[in-house]
Amino acid sequence: MSRITVIGGTGYAGSAIVAEAAGRGHEVTAFSRSRPTEPVPGVTYVQGDATDETALSSVVTGADVVVAALAPRGTLAGSFRDVYRTTARLADAAGARLFVVGGFSSLRPAAGAPRFVADLGHAPAEFHDEIRAGAALVIEDLPATPESLNWVFVSPAANFGSYVPGERLGRYRLGDDVAVQPDGGGAISGVDYALGLVDLIEKDSHHRAHVNLGY
Ligand SMILES: NC(=O)c1ccc[n+]([C@@H]2O[C@H](COP(=O)([O-])OP(=O)(O)OC[C@H]3O[C@@H](n4cnc5c(N)ncnc54)[C@H](OP(=O)(O)O)[C@@H]3O)[C@@H](O)[C@H]2O)c1
Repeated sequence: MSRITVIGGTGYAGSAIVAEAAGRGHEVTAFSRSRPTEPVPGVTYVQGDATDETALSSVVTGADVVVAALAPRGTLAGSFRDVYRTTARLADAAGARLFVVGGFSSLRPAAGAPRFVADLGHAPAEFHDEIRAGAALVIEDLPATPESLNWVFVSPAANFGSYVPGERLGRYRLGDDVAVQPDGGGAISGVDYALGLVDLIEKDSHHRAHVNLGY
């Protein structure tokens, strides 16, 4: 059993991870500004703003694992990378492993090929800033953290999100930084992504690594 804090634990990805981890008997804390409409029994919900370091620190301290599931949108559009740098620093100080819910575009179509983010022609222009902010985490910010921080950046397949929630198939494929479904980007439901992510937490098989989950 691990003490797992999910930052953004009431969002699309975060709530699925919270439910999966709690269902397996982990001690889960979910952090967000508002309470969920359907709380998961046994989960501790803490309200706060991730831009407030004191609030963030209160839920990172004492955790074995921190999952970062915020989105670079809305009020976090300009501060997302700073908030994640702070989260990484706090996790490192707490000796907690850090799992980051990433984006598809930071993946590569083939080994050694440029990442999808290098050519965003496939994505609507209104999403370019948030795609670049998410990819910068694994390209620049996480590799720059001290070696003592154990981070895993977990990209989903392209079709992932509240607009395509999908269903639980109970399976997934795990890849490295090469998309397991490069052609068309593939898909993965939130619940199967959460299954794969909590498996990664429990197996503790990756260290300072970029991985991806798809069908
Ligand atoms: N295909 C793809 O590549 C793809 C698609 C979608 C998402 N993603 C990835 O998934 C990640 C999560 O996205 P999502 O769609 O699950 O996001 P989401 O549903 O918008 O959830 C965001 C979560 O963060 C919380 N939050 C927002 N601002 C906050 C703040 N200032 N302080 C504390 N909590 C805050 C929200 O709750 P409150 O509003 O109550 O605070 C909510 O719990 C993204 O960063 C992205 O990397 C990837």
